[in-house]
Amino acid sequence: MVLSNNMVNCSSNEGNSCIKNTDFSGSTIKRDQAEKDIIGLLKKRIRDDIKFFSDSFSSRQQYREKIYYMISDIANSSVAHAGLYIGDELLEKALSEIFGLGILENYLSDKKITDIFIQDRQMLIIRDGRKQFLGEVFNSIDDVYLIVDRIKLASGKTVDQRVPFLNAELYDGSRCSIVIPPVSDRVYITIRVFNCIDFELENLLGLKMFDDDAFTMLKKLVSDKKNILISGSTGSGKTTLLNTLVKLIPQNEIINLIQDLPEIRLKNHPFARMLTTRPKTRETDNEISQDRLVYETLRMKADRIILGEVRDCMAAYQLLQALNTGHRGSFSTIHADSCADALMRLEMLAMEYRPNLSSRLIKKTVSRAIDAVLFLECELDKNQDIKNRKIKEIAQVEDCLDKRGDYKLIFH
Ligand SMILES: Nc1ncnc2c1ncn2[C@@H]1O[C@H](COP(=O)(O)OP(=O)(O)O)[C@@H](O)[C@H]1O
Ligand SMILES: [Mg+2]
Repeated sequence: MVLSNNMVNCSSNEGNSCIKNTDFSGSTIKRDQAEKDIIGLLKKRIRDDIKFFSDSFSSRQQYREKIYYMISDIANSSVAHAGLYIGDELLEKALSEIFGLGILENYLSDKKITDIFIQDRQMLIIRDGRKQFLGEVFNSIDDVYLIVDRIKLASGKTVDQRVPFLNAELYDGSRCSIVIPPVSDRVYITIRVFNCIDFELENLLGLKMFDDDAFTMLKKLVSDKKNILISGSTGSGKTTLLNTLVKLIPQNEIINLIQDLPEIRLKNHPFARMLTTRPKTRETDNEISQDRLVYETLRMKADRIILGEVRDCMAAYQLLQALNTGHRGSFSTIHADSCADALMRLEMLAMEYRPNLSSRLIKKTVSRAIDAVLFLECELDKNQDIKNRKIKEIAQVEDCLDKRGDYKLIFH
């Protein structure tokens, strides 16, 4: 397939008519750049065309033709790309970029979808907190394995009969887990979609996550450099809230963000330093744990330590030590069922690392380290779908324990 549009009419900015001939034959760099540009323009057009992805991989040939005509159209209407040869190579490049994850692309770009579950040819999504069973969206199991292959290729990891599991991050930051038969009865792909994490604190107020008083209090907690622990169950909005709070940190403070996945990205903060843990896999031999990153953070002299989620006992202990030795304004999240439970979980993690320390001593350390605990809860509707996410409790933690040796919490 050759496009013969080497000569096109154009009008220059000065208003003079001219004939321009763009010749790509001599320069590979020029052609590569032109191809890159044209694929970029094509992707933009496809993004704007909601009907484009209406089928799965089986109609790849049809897509190929569609794409050929779209590229021709773009090239014809742009002086810079006139003369570009639209051969098989360019079409394949465009196809693989556009169909990176085939039909999944559609769901990954939907801002309201938080989770995607694939079980063989069937798909289930969680959209706006509601589960929707979409039935058989793939035409054949080969299409599903094509997605598995793409994920394998992009992540550089393997899933096969020897290790039938794969955990990877997709190109857009979504977390993906794959299990294949015969360990499982079907191919299971579970994706936690990375998307709407980029709220401002005002947006969360608008979504009724908290009231005006809590809004003012949260802002004050950040500006007063209080150490905040955000608790709740999975999906209750801990990371989302943490992300909005981090954005309130003044621009002249040095922040170290320690995360398992780069969920929080502080693009506009000049001194935000992102550190990400790395599990031990067969591809990477040496694990990089949370505690190692907390240790490095102390040497990097950060003003604030943000620990995405406390789950490692050594990291929990180190964090408590750091907070008790002058680090202020640190935020983290923890999986817990209430404010009191959050403190207890932190205490248990620290004790797991230092079992010889007395419970009272650890409790004292926790009470001194943490200034405020927030507890988030999901409100469910009658179908058990998430209706809303709310800050259920805000508790201030006093520095000392009560007579019985318990935390002194002041609830707001
Ligand atoms: N107040 C909110 N209103 C609507 N959606 C929210 C709200 N808070 C969080 N979300 C969405 O809920 C999903 C889970 O939130 P996340 O912060 O990752 O939860 P957690 O860290 O507790 O597991 C994300 O897609 C996020 O965008
Ligand atoms: Mg989280």
